[in-house]
Amino acid sequence: MKLIVECREFCNMDASMRYKRLLEKKPDAALGFATGATPLELYHELARLYRAGEISFARARAFNLDEYVGMNSDNANSFRYFMNKYLFGRTDFNVANTYMPYCLSRESLTASHYELLIEQAGGIDLMLLGIGRNGHIGFNEPGTPFGSITHVQQLSEETRAANSRFFYSPTLVPTYAVTMGIATIMHARSIILLAYGREKAQAVHDMVAGPVTESVPASVLQLHPDVTVYADAEAAALL
Ligand code: F6R
Repeated sequence: MKLIVECREFCNMDASMRYKRLLEKKPDAALGFATGATPLELYHELARLYRAGEISFARARAFNLDEYVGMNSDNANSFRYFMNKYLFGRTDFNVANTYMPYCLSRESLTASHYELLIEQAGGIDLMLLGIGRNGHIGFNEPGTPFGSITHVQQLSEETRAANSRFFYSPTLVPTYAVTMGIATIMHARSIILLAYGREKAQAVHDMVAGPVTESVPASVLQLHPDVTVYADAEAAALL
């Protein structure tokens, strides 16, 4: 695991260069994306590079980590809406090549369909992750088996509370999400994880320096051969 502790601006710029280099080499690369507050600046930077003519996503395929169960794409709280607004709609992504693990109800999930789509794309070349305060990656909460594939996950109260900042009322935060599993994430050829802010310090410590355990989902990344963790000084404060 490579750890880079720098200011956010540097981290986002350095991470954006990974996309530029990858897409120059492999224009149809399969890219895994996260939502939330953390990747926003990186997405701004990727959109800026696109406007400057330095990067093209025209042939890239996108696979998002997760989506709330039962949320339509026109709902402003859906991750599809988020991705269209901050990345896909600001670059030359072909929206037909952008995928979310969408399902209308807990029962309707066809997890194997999403896994198959990823497999048919040749696997994910570069997976972007954030990290939850409890060490979750995607919506894989503590205790999720390392062997898990795409599945419906009940969100912890902590995660629902953390995500309530995006909703009008905390009661509107969904209880279930569909997420790539830990094994799905671990199959990606390369992984970038961004962690910013003091509230991530414990999780970053446990991910990097703690034991590999299902109670800290991100600790599994210690077992992956190509992971880069970008952290600002606050997030790295306990290392
Ligand atoms: C989002 C996701 C989550 C977030 C994590 C951190 O698609 O999978 O694991 O990355 O909850 O969220 P923020 O960045 O809002 O602190």
